[in-house]
Amino acid sequence: MRYRALGNSGIEASVVGLGTWVTGGGEWWGPWPEDDESIRAIHAALNAGVNLIDTAPCYGYGHSEEIVGRAIRDRRDQAVVATKCGLWWHDDRGSAFYERDGRTVRRCVRPETMRVEIEDSLRRLGTDRIDLYQTHWPSTEPDKTPICDTMACLMEMKAAGKIRAIGVSNVSLDELQENLRCGDVVSDQFRYSILSRAAEADILPFCQKHALATLTYMSLEQGLLTGKVGMDRVFSESEFRSDTNWNPWFKLANRPRILDLLAGWKDLTDRYRCTLAQLVVAWTAAQPGVTHVLCGARRADQIIETAAAGDIELAPEVSDRMRKDVEALGEPA
Ligand SMILES: NC(=O)c1ccc[n+]([C@@H]2O[C@H](COP(=O)([O-])OP(=O)(O)OC[C@H]3O[C@@H](n4cnc5c(N)ncnc54)[C@H](OP(=O)(O)O)[C@@H]3O)[C@@H](O)[C@H]2O)c1
Repeated sequence: MRYRALGNSGIEASVVGLGTWVTGGGEWWGPWPEDDESIRAIHAALNAGVNLIDTAPCYGYGHSEEIVGRAIRDRRDQAVVATKCGLWWHDDRGSAFYERDGRTVRRCVRPETMRVEIEDSLRRLGTDRIDLYQTHWPSTEPDKTPICDTMACLMEMKAAGKIRAIGVSNVSLDELQENLRCGDVVSDQFRYSILSRAAEADILPFCQKHALATLTYMSLEQGLLTGKVGMDRVFSESEFRSDTNWNPWFKLANRPRILDLLAGWKDLTDRYRCTLAQLVVAWTAAQPGVTHVLCGARRADQIIETAAAGDIELAPEVSDRMRKDVEALGEPA
C-alpha cells in the first residue's frame, strides 16, 4: 500500500480508502449488508494497509458510523477516520435534498446543527477525535449559510481538538476557494472515475496546484467497472444504481458497451496480473491531482481485492490507452 499526505494536515492516508456508504444499508443499496460482514470488511481493509476509512452520519442514519466505531474500537490508532457533517434529517432546518427510508434529508451546514452533529459522530464512532471532518454538501438556497460561518465553526472544533483536519465535498471551484479563504481546508472529496471525469476541468488541477488532498468517490462506478455487473444483474427501483441520471451506464442498453470496453483490457490485466477492479482503481490513483481513491465494499473480499490496487503503478502509456478507449465510447444513451 502506498500512503500520501492529506494536504498539509501531517496525516498520511492510504491511496486506497474504504468507503462505508453501503455499510449503512437502507434503500440506496438494495439488500442490507450484514453488520458482521461489514466489520470483517473494515478489519480486512486495515489488515491490507488501508487506513483511510470514510463514513458519514447519513449513511444509514448513523448506522455506518456505529459499525465503523465498533470495528475500530481496539484498532483506533491504525485508522484515519474521515466523516462528514451537513446532511441533516432531525428537523426541518436546511434545504430539502432527498427523501429516503421515510426521512427527508436536508443540506444544512449551520453552526448550531454542526455542533450537534459532531457530538453524535464522536459518540457513534467511539472516539474523542475525528481525523478528517468534511462538509458533505455545501449549503444551498433557500437555507444558505455563509461559507465563512461554517468554516469558523469547523475551526473552533479543530482548536478544541475534536477534529484534526477539515475537508469539503461536492463543492464548485468557487465554493472551494471561499472555503480556503475562510479556514484551513486540507482535502476535497468528489465524484471521479475513468467514466466520470468532469473534475479534470477545474477541481483536480486546482487541488494539485494547492497541494490539497483529493478523495475520489464512485471510482468503481458503484461496481460497474469491476466487470462483475453483467446483463443479468437487476437493481431495485429505490437503489441508487437505478437512478440513470447519475449512472446512465447502468442502463441495460448501455451495459454491453462497458462490458466490451472491459473485455478489451484483458491484455492489461494479464500484464499487471490484476483484476479489472484493481486496474481501474490503479488508473484512478495515477491521474494528476488524485491522491486517494475511496472504494466501497459490501464484503471483505471486495476491499481485499481493491486494496491491492494500492501497490500497482501503471505505465503512462497504459493510463493513456485506457483513457483513449473510454473516450472512444462516446456518450451513454
Ligand atoms: N461525498 C459524497 O457525496 C459521496 C458520494 C458517494 C460516495 N461517497 C464515498 O465514496 C465511497 C465509494 O463510493 P461508492 O461506495 O458509492 O461506490 P464504489 O466504490 O464505486 O462502488 C462500491 C460498490 O461496488 C461493488 N464492489 C466494490 N468492490 C468490488 C469488487 N472487488 N468486486 C465486485 N464488486 C465490487 C460493491 O457493490 P455490490 O456488492 O452491491 O455490487 C460496492 O458496494 C462511498 O462508500 C462513500 O464513502 C461519498
